[in-house]
Amino acid sequence: YVMGIDLGTSSVKVSVMNKEGDIVSQESSDLSVDQEQPGYSEQDPEEWVTATTVAIVNLALKDHIDLNDVEGVSFSGQMHGLVLMDKHNAVLRPAILWDDTRTTEQCKEIMDICGDDFLKITRNRPLEGFTLPKILWVKENEPKIFAQAKTFLLPKDYLRFRMTGDISMEYSDAAGTVLLDVENKTWSKEICDKLGLNIDICPKLVSSIDEVGKISEHYSKFSGMSMNTRVIAGAADNAAGAIGAGIMDESKVMISTGTSGVVLKHEDSIRDYGGKLHFFNHAIPDKYYSMGVTLAAGHSLSWLHDNFGESMSMEEFVKLAGESQVGAHGLLFTPYIVGERTPYADSKIRGSFIGVSSKNNKADFVRAVLEGVIFSYEDILKIYHEHGEKFDTVYSIGGGAKSPLWLQIQANVFNTKVSTIENEQGPGLGAAMIAAVGVKWFSDLHECADKFIKKGKSYWPEPEKADRYKELYKIYSQIYAQTKEMNH
Ligand code: XUL
Repeated sequence: YVMGIDLGTSSVKVSVMNKEGDIVSQESSDLSVDQEQPGYSEQDPEEWVTATTVAIVNLALKDHIDLNDVEGVSFSGQMHGLVLMDKHNAVLRPAILWDDTRTTEQCKEIMDICGDDFLKITRNRPLEGFTLPKILWVKENEPKIFAQAKTFLLPKDYLRFRMTGDISMEYSDAAGTVLLDVENKTWSKEICDKLGLNIDICPKLVSSIDEVGKISEHYSKFSGMSMNTRVIAGAADNAAGAIGAGIMDESKVMISTGTSGVVLKHEDSIRDYGGKLHFFNHAIPDKYYSMGVTLAAGHSLSWLHDNFGESMSMEEFVKLAGESQVGAHGLLFTPYIVGERTPYADSKIRGSFIGVSSKNNKADFVRAVLEGVIFSYEDILKIYHEHGEKFDTVYSIGGGAKSPLWLQIQANVFNTKVSTIENEQGPGLGAAMIAAVGVKWFSDLHECADKFIKKGKSYWPEPEKADRYKELYKIYSQIYAQTKEMNH
């Protein structure tokens, strides 16, 4: 077997697969997020380790999995989160997560000091979610803690450290720190020097499919995993999601809906989107991926469900939208409830419902949220269109690809065929594929994809509805500019 561990924001999911790519067992454990202070989002790294271990132990018990049969394990993880460690490798403070937006000032400072060189080196603009501004925030606001920092890791790299003892970071996630020289695949000394950071805090770099070691004796005793299991570096959740969806050539685009939503394209070589999209090294050696992010995709829906779902399950709640119709009887929603990344890079903007009428009911509100999230994806696809990209299929994965209704809305809003993956696991399948290649079941990820990825259903645009959405999207696109001043 191989094991894929997907360390998300709201849960960690462990999947065990056989050589055919079939899931033989799966288990997840929930994670808590501390978002008490406005703009803050933190997690205790210890919880990642315990939740993962609970899932592994439960899965072994539940499905009688002999953990000695797991040849390799790999990871996909929520990106950008900062884990600061001292010289004893102890964690210095809670991890600051990707959706934490406290670092607006640090982002400005980075641009003031580094200027356009920053974009040339890292291929990205500094945004609140990325890791470097978080490092500077701790340096400026918690100097005593920062003085003890020996190194830093990203969430799934920290989890891997706890399972092996090896301290390293792999490229697809390292690029999301915006401290990496993306083209040369090295930490940028120039940026470290300019910002007064010692480059020695940056960990060793490895490739996604590299074996970093085996399960340590300590972790083996703790979890029941075998010390013979090989541990493969893994990838950022979005890179792993792309691999699990077979997005491995230039013609393909993927949409992944989890807490956040991502529109992602494979890139064979460095490409300049003027900083409008993120641009990172891929889990496929020497390839890249570009992407845009809707900060609150699944989050917008879970927010509505938490507040107004009453006793309804999430599935029932989403189905309710089917009782409404295209355009939710005049109701439009923008999903900026925690700010927005692409295309606005604005952490202060907030969402809106407009067009509310006395006739609207709960079904319309659910429908408007489903539609608003997809309109925000259309904003990202538009950037690709402006750069001459055309796609005949959009591959949709993640929690948002579980609802046929939401998938049909995607096809209609994009006016493009939307396809799913039958055995889709979100990024977990990509993590298992990386493990399978890492232990040499396959010579590369393409060969593994042929065996592991099973095509799912397709949804075609319905012309009349697509036309209606085109009209609605025009109105949607104006809401940002009209509401921007409210929170600035
Ligand atoms: C990507 C991003 C999110 C997280 C979610 O830049 O911040 O998609 O990776 O886990």
